[in-house]
Amino acid sequence: MPTLIGQPTPRIDGRAKVTGRASYASDEPVANPAHAFLLTSFIARGRITGFDLAEAKAVPGVLDILTHESVGSEAKPPKQASGGPTTTTMEDDQVWHDGQIIGIVLADTYEAAREAAFRVRVHYAAETPAASFDAAGAERERRDDGEHQDYAIGDAEGALGAAEVTLDAAYATPTQHHNPIELFTTTCAWENGNLTIWEPSQFVYGLRANVAGQLGIPPERVRVVSKFVGGAFGSKGGATARTAWIAVAARRLGRPVKLVATRDQGFTIATYRAETRHRIRLGATRDGRLTALVHEGTEVTSRPSRYNVSGNETTARLYACPNILTRVDIVHADRNTPGFMRAPPETPYMFALESAIDELAGKLGLDPIELRRRNDAQVDPVSGLPFAGRRLMACFDEGAARFGWADRNPRAGSMRDGEWLVGLGCASAVYETNIAACAARVSLRPNGTARVEVAGHDIGTGAYTVVAITAADRLGLDASAIDVAMGDTTLPAAPLAAGSSHTASLANAVAAACEMVRDRLARAATTRNAGPLAGHDPGTLRLVDSCLTAPEGVAEPLSDAVSRLSPGVVEAFAENIPDGAPPDAMGKLHAGTNPILRGYKRSDVAAYAFGAQFVEVRVHARTCEIRVPRMLGAFAAGNIVNPIAAHSQYMGGMIWGLSAALLEKTELDDRAARYVNDNLSEYHIPVCADVRDVEVMMLPEDDDRANPLGIKGLGEIGIVGMNAAIANAVHHATGRRIRELPIRIEDLL
Ligand code: MOS
Repeated sequence: MPTLIGQPTPRIDGRAKVTGRASYASDEPVANPAHAFLLTSFIARGRITGFDLAEAKAVPGVLDILTHESVGSEAKPPKQASGGPTTTTMEDDQVWHDGQIIGIVLADTYEAAREAAFRVRVHYAAETPAASFDAAGAERERRDDGEHQDYAIGDAEGALGAAEVTLDAAYATPTQHHNPIELFTTTCAWENGNLTIWEPSQFVYGLRANVAGQLGIPPERVRVVSKFVGGAFGSKGGATARTAWIAVAARRLGRPVKLVATRDQGFTIATYRAETRHRIRLGATRDGRLTALVHEGTEVTSRPSRYNVSGNETTARLYACPNILTRVDIVHADRNTPGFMRAPPETPYMFALESAIDELAGKLGLDPIELRRRNDAQVDPVSGLPFAGRRLMACFDEGAARFGWADRNPRAGSMRDGEWLVGLGCASAVYETNIAACAARVSLRPNGTARVEVAGHDIGTGAYTVVAITAADRLGLDASAIDVAMGDTTLPAAPLAAGSSHTASLANAVAAACEMVRDRLARAATTRNAGPLAGHDPGTLRLVDSCLTAPEGVAEPLSDAVSRLSPGVVEAFAENIPDGAPPDAMGKLHAGTNPILRGYKRSDVAAYAFGAQFVEVRVHARTCEIRVPRMLGAFAAGNIVNPIAAHSQYMGGMIWGLSAALLEKTELDDRAARYVNDNLSEYHIPVCADVRDVEVMMLPEDDDRANPLGIKGLGEIGIVGMNAAIANAVHHATGRRIRELPIRIEDLL
């Protein structure tokens, strides 16, 4: 049967986006809004002893200034997406980190609010902050509380002692900030005790539940709207401190309030990727079989939060190895609470493991792909469960052939083109296959159009189109005949758009609702006397090309089939609770928690997507300038709903990997625990001239063990292997092993 799933489909919202009709939350018109400007702390640790507000209040147009002195406990701190508390803001006089929200200036215009904010004088009792790992006063804590899981399989220390070949190396990754083009904004309006929040969000139901809890009002009184998001990457996944306070401000003024935080404020009022350190120890036989793998990670977090990413839950599962030990420690510093950032666990932890594998290959005199082949595993070495499809070596083989890996001289520093040293590197990519409970409503009209409603999120990924494709496929219509509504808590509940799970979550729920529509049409068509399908088995009828069709070809036009049912539109509401998810998963979703069923927590299979990533770097022999002329990624990530959008996701991930490996780092002033390059001119990202040939290969993989539609998710895997692939290529070009990111000219001089 022809299927739309897997056909390249242009975005159904493409025209709206390029004509400016796809508006961000802060563009939604509200009547007569007041404008907010955040007042943020200039110290990272201590207490506020007082404010001088007179000069600020004298600025024409200023309406009010909220501080902890004037609002007290009107809003509680938000819960963090990972469960722990986030840093507080205006509940009391305590300062937890630099750039913390300590006040909100409200005025008739944005300019007046900003002018007044710079005229507020704040008095502090400051203490010396601890900025990061090694600072005096930073507190180290073992993370082994059940939420994070350490593994101890076999006897890793003993196996290391007995190994024929060993490697012991330390790696580090820096602080990074997402910097989506759309800034962090919040607009709030009250009407008859009901609050509407327009805010870019990856989880409108979560934001609603969280803010309702903070304000002590029922969630039914809160509506969150987030129709289009200008980039998120994890930074818009959880509730942050600003939202409830803007709601409080709007309630006090009796007028809508709009906040558009500045770029530099975005570095401290939202989440980020914290710096990590790793020690990897590998033991192997002389012929390249792993006998021991120890991955110890250390991550920075804030004082009150135990947030961490624990990527060694993934690195422990990548290769067959009988003795595995993992450990994660967190270090509490005077910093804002970190959070999800695209492939939060894998990006730093796979840099460490896949660099170490490359180093081990060098020690063994083995091709790095061959070393991976000798340790390939079709069962998860931690759980003993079979992988729900693992085409890692197929990705390496097809990717290597296309990339020209066979032409690589294995000796580091041996390949040269004029003044440029040439290096070819590779690394594995892996990402767990996640899915969450989700509801959807589908309404099919007799004219052959349909509407799909689901409170999902298009964070720039193409989710509207994925939903339209799924519904069109199941209803026998064109994608252009489907009208999709998302990003609003008035719609059926959908989960957090994160963990590369959203396509699987949404599509499986939409498909379930479409099946209910088909079933009702089929039952009516077969049981009522009039009509060509009377007497057929309803289970065999399919919706194809705007007809309800029996296998032997008898068909009835959709308009006839639909009009048989009163009121002339067929509407179905479905909830999809994935196998293995908690039975109260929908209730949890409404309550704002988000039980994503993780690919490694299932009882039947270990579900992951895999990929192989290849990079060519060129390092100038005298200046050490590093260029990346070619990147290739070969991925097997289950069924692809829309190859156009998938290609963009993979390509974006690979470009971000290049950025992380060579450019990105949030610089920290250790004395002040302050980010210093909090702007887009000093926080370096690649420009088009830095990105040359990017090739994506999508290997077919049809395996319904992942979920009924066989969708594995691919929003994050594109970045996962890039850091190591580039570091490995730099080593191949120069013979220099750089174990700390980003890799810069000065590291190679
Ligand atoms: Mo993504 S970092 O899981 O929002």
